[in-house]
Amino acid sequence: MRVRWAPWTTSDTTCRWSSTAVLPEPTLRPGVDLRSWVGAAPDELVESLVRARNAMADAPVPGGLDMPAWTVDEQRRDEERLIARAMPLHVTVAVEDGEVLALTGLRVPDAAGGRLVHTDDTTTVPAARGRGLALAVKIESLRRLRAERPDVERVGTKNAEQNEAILAINRKLGFVPVLTLTASVVTL
Ligand SMILES: CC(C)(COP(=O)(O)OP(=O)(O)OC[C@H]1O[C@@H](n2cnc3c(N)ncnc32)[C@H](O)[C@@H]1OP(=O)(O)O)[C@@H](O)C(=O)NCCC(=O)NCCS
Repeated sequence: MRVRWAPWTTSDTTCRWSSTAVLPEPTLRPGVDLRSWVGAAPDELVESLVRARNAMADAPVPGGLDMPAWTVDEQRRDEERLIARAMPLHVTVAVEDGEVLALTGLRVPDAAGGRLVHTDDTTTVPAARGRGLALAVKIESLRRLRAERPDVERVGTKNAEQNEAILAINRKLGFVPVLTLTASVVTL
């Protein structure tokens, strides 16, 4: 990865979601389906998943970091690495005409034990934003987690303070801010 270090200051808000939170009802327009899996993405979806994941480049990042494009090889390596660490990604996507429009992920440890689960990437391709898709995939992902892993009590997420969109979505889902971390980089 190429990272261009320049002076910057950023604040990230850490939020927690309790598995007892009341989730809103998702609204999906006809033709859009939700699909979920644990671990490796289905072969027929992996290319469009990777295209959609590249929409993460629109997330505000400190100092204008250069994020290289995500590839299918990197996707497969990432999946294998998380499976090897017994922390497979639980993924939910919104699909229309075989194309992934929105995705979200949770890093869920295999072992049971009432632990904290961390949120991975959430993104919607630019052409499909504002249709409730990010909200819908996150609702489905949290519902499935609650049903499949009743031992998990909390979900954590960390978002840039200026990322109004994802902060609004997380508030709708019942995430509660618990701390703000401010970091600065200076050139000596
Ligand atoms: C953040 C992102 C995933 C939102 O996707 P989306 O599918 O457009 O979001 P939704 O349509 O589900 O929005 C649901 C709610 O979130 C809020 N919201 C969405 N976009 C917003 C924006 N730009 N500003 C303020 N609130 C916003 C609204 O409350 C909206 O509900 P409403 O339409 O009823 O008012 C998308 O903008 C994106 O991919 N951004 C780049 C990647 C990123 O920043 N990811 C998050 C970091 S992990």
